[in-house]
Amino acid sequence: MSKDSLTITDNRTGEIYEVPIHYPTYPKYAAYIDAAAIRQIKVSDDDFGLLAYDPGYGNTASCKSKITFIDGDKGILRYRGYDITDLATNCTYLEVAYLLLNGELPNEVQMAEWRETVRMHTLLHENFKDMLRGFRYDAHPMGMLVGVIGALGTFYPDSKDGFDPETRARHIMRIIAKIPTIAAYSYRHSRGLPYFDPDNRFSYSHNFLRMMFKHPGVEYRIDPIIVRTLMVLFILHADHEQNCSTSVMRSVGSSLSDPYSSVAGAATALYGIRHGGANEAVLRMLAEIGSKDRVPEFIEGVKSGEKGRLMGFGHRVYKNFDPRATIIKGLAHEVFKVTGANPLLEIALELEKIALEDEYFISRKLYPNVDFYSGIIYQSMGFPTDMFPVLFAIGRAAGWLSQWQEMMQDPDLRIVRPRQAYLGHDLREFVPMNER
Ligand code: CMC
Repeated sequence: MSKDSLTITDNRTGEIYEVPIHYPTYPKYAAYIDAAAIRQIKVSDDDFGLLAYDPGYGNTASCKSKITFIDGDKGILRYRGYDITDLATNCTYLEVAYLLLNGELPNEVQMAEWRETVRMHTLLHENFKDMLRGFRYDAHPMGMLVGVIGALGTFYPDSKDGFDPETRARHIMRIIAKIPTIAAYSYRHSRGLPYFDPDNRFSYSHNFLRMMFKHPGVEYRIDPIIVRTLMVLFILHADHEQNCSTSVMRSVGSSLSDPYSSVAGAATALYGIRHGGANEAVLRMLAEIGSKDRVPEFIEGVKSGEKGRLMGFGHRVYKNFDPRATIIKGLAHEVFKVTGANPLLEIALELEKIALEDEYFISRKLYPNVDFYSGIIYQSMGFPTDMFPVLFAIGRAAGWLSQWQEMMQDPDLRIVRPRQAYLGHDLREFVPMNER
């Protein structure tokens, strides 16, 4: 019997099973067993076999991946082995996107070519301006983003061939290039402002800020600190292994849908307030609290359940601190030097201080996450609250697409199709309507 195995005794039958334990990178990272190995555990031949019940997939490895590593207890986040702080300090967003997609940091020639290719594909087909006009004036920009990205797939029907490396690379690049343009147009539609085409002389983040905020006839000027901060925020959001939206990306993609539809699906998952919509919810919460002295009362409301959850707090994997939140908190001070202080920061700092000393939050290991401070920074930069999840989506696009690409190359790829523990009726006799 191998030492790297489990011996399971089924006390219902007395049968003993041996299940091998696998190590992705022995002996460092979490070991796993094949879930299918427990299906052999049955009480009789016609028994279906044992399933593992795991709501929210909290302890299920849905894929093998070489992209992002998180150690939630130690607060570690790495893309392709590089620490997030090193990447945020030294790289551009497009450099990090290249790393996520290709596994290695680009050299100068590779970077110049990648940057140039992305810049040449930032334009959107003119029809999209008409499509955006079809949305109501108060449509949430995340809904517009989802609609436009989904529709883009109809312009590129060849993108369905996700098994072809060249086709894949072309459409990945297109999505990364166009998503800031779509995001900016969604915002401008909601404000009734004219659209500005991308100006490819500028960097990725600068170009996006310009498309968002430029006024007709006025030259657009922006402090480099703001451009750099936005870029760092994109880097911090670029990937986060098998989170809710990435799992959706892989699920939709596993049916061999095109990457535009898969990204649209992932973005819908990101939209929710327990995921990428949390940054928007944090700002609404801080505004509702209104002043520093009302924080203790609000915390009591959270603990009693009356005020819902403390938005921007807690994480499925980080149980000590979220390294992204630490970097973002530092960025906030840089931004405020340019924009002036944001009054909501005082409330956020008080909320963090009180929550981190409170038994309710300590015992549940609830710490500020990436969304706690990002919204305050976005607001100070001039972004309206409903654009916050859209900003998250721009950064995360590189991660979604890297994960999709990895899945398309994976020999283990199967359509996602979980099982269920059925709790409903056994066969019932049909009752005609007049007898019900
Ligand atoms: N405020 C108050 N209580 C909380 C919070 C919170 N933010 N988060 C979790 N809890 C409590 C929860 O009520 C539960 O308590 P009990 O054991 O008494 O029932 C316990 O902590 C465990 O919660 P859980 O729902 O099992 O935790 P989870 O791992 O399923 O949820 C989470 C993770 C991020 C969805 C959750 O912490 C949350 O809803 N946070 C607020 C929303 C938020 O900030 N989301 C952004 C996440 S970071 C960006 C991203 O990657 O999307």
